[in-house]
Amino acid sequence: MANILKAPRGTMDVLPDKIDKWTYIEYTARETANLFGFKEIRFPTFESIDLFRRGVGETTDVVQKEMFTFTHGNSNFALRPEGTASTVRLVLSNGLYNDPMPLKLFYITSCFRGERPQAGRLREFHQFGVELFGTAEPSADAEIILLAKTMFNNLGIKGLRLEINSIGCPNCRKDYQNALREYFTSKQDGLCDTCKSRLERNPMRILDCKSPECQKIAEAAPKVTDYICDDCRTHFEAVQNQLKNLNVDFIVNTSIVRGLDYYTRTVFEFIDEKRGLTLCGGGRYDGLVSQLGGPELPALGFAMGLERLIMTMDEQGCSYETEQNKTVYFATIGDAASKKAAELALKLRTEGISAEYDLVGRSMKAQMKYANRKGFAFTVAIGDNELNSNTAELKNMQTGETIPVTLDDKIIEAIDNAIVKETMKELEETIEKDKIFNS
Ligand code: HAM
Repeated sequence: MANILKAPRGTMDVLPDKIDKWTYIEYTARETANLFGFKEIRFPTFESIDLFRRGVGETTDVVQKEMFTFTHGNSNFALRPEGTASTVRLVLSNGLYNDPMPLKLFYITSCFRGERPQAGRLREFHQFGVELFGTAEPSADAEIILLAKTMFNNLGIKGLRLEINSIGCPNCRKDYQNALREYFTSKQDGLCDTCKSRLERNPMRILDCKSPECQKIAEAAPKVTDYICDDCRTHFEAVQNQLKNLNVDFIVNTSIVRGLDYYTRTVFEFIDEKRGLTLCGGGRYDGLVSQLGGPELPALGFAMGLERLIMTMDEQGCSYETEQNKTVYFATIGDAASKKAAELALKLRTEGISAEYDLVGRSMKAQMKYANRKGFAFTVAIGDNELNSNTAELKNMQTGETIPVTLDDKIIEAIDNAIVKETMKELEETIEKDKIFNS
């Protein structure tokens, strides 16, 4: 019997001590997307299985092997394995294609793929994804890539390699598919069974097969860039020129085809050079909207895996700039003091200052130890003496400094002033550090 106390294989609990990392990355994603004019959307966790079959593609690993599917009544559903098909469905079912173009959307969402779990590969993972609709211009491709790069910069992630490629359009793709079919047919004995079945329907999928034998054979396969049509070539060159204008470093890697069927023209990946792990993948999908029953609407986007971002940030020692945001702790003795602390905490919270007090009936010493461990900036100890005099000491937990405060509304101003003083001190220290660093 399955161990019900263990999170299912390939899934993860996030505990309070790690949640700051998640909220920081989510916050940075929202800020970065907003800077570029993107608006957040949310879609259901499950959709009709056909959306992904038609959207992501029947010949992809994701659809063939990895979807979590279930039947309810007469309907077949799948947990979303990615966000692009869901976004297109949302755009179509809500008529967003009538909005002024370009339409700029983003999401932060969980995805589900039944892959073999390993470091950086989970069955439930999270993506920050960005989708831009209504423009076929190469400048849009560069803008999307720049957005991804800005997100990495904002998180302080370094050492990423941007690889780009063009996989052409349905017109030139046919010639390329034929060339690939011919090449792989001559080597078919060495291919895995899945790739043998891909030969007829979609030989491009063989290029991103994970089996080492297939990868070896794929190394000498025809290159897509030798087959793309003039329009696609001009588009790809313009994307590269625009990236150069924007000082975005990249390399062209003709073996990037991406594992999902909807891509056309530009595809790209940001790869962590040290681990060889792809943190972000994306590209154009000019045909997907019409393929799912909508108007002709060119589109493009990317998604980055949040777990992989955290892995990389941890490894590179990036800061999550976590504000502890634990401001005041009232340590109390006795019921009357506890009641007073509850009243004062409420006043402070109403003013936006976080405040807590003892809820477990611990000794004064144990409460102070708790406040210290939890990283409260200030404490106020309240016992009979403090209640009688209506005054107490506000203690700065870092410096040990104390100032007298009254146990009424005036405490708000006193704590506000103490916070401002602390913030100014931190600011001065940062400026001093920068001076030393820059000199
Ligand atoms: P994808 O390359 O399948 O593309 O996934 C994007 C990112 O999600 C990957 O680069 C990786 O960081 C993360 N990821 C994917 N699978 C896993 C996994 N099993 N465990 C952990 N992280 C994972 C897409 O999903 C496309 N929808 C991207 C896109 C948006 N293209 C255009 N618009």
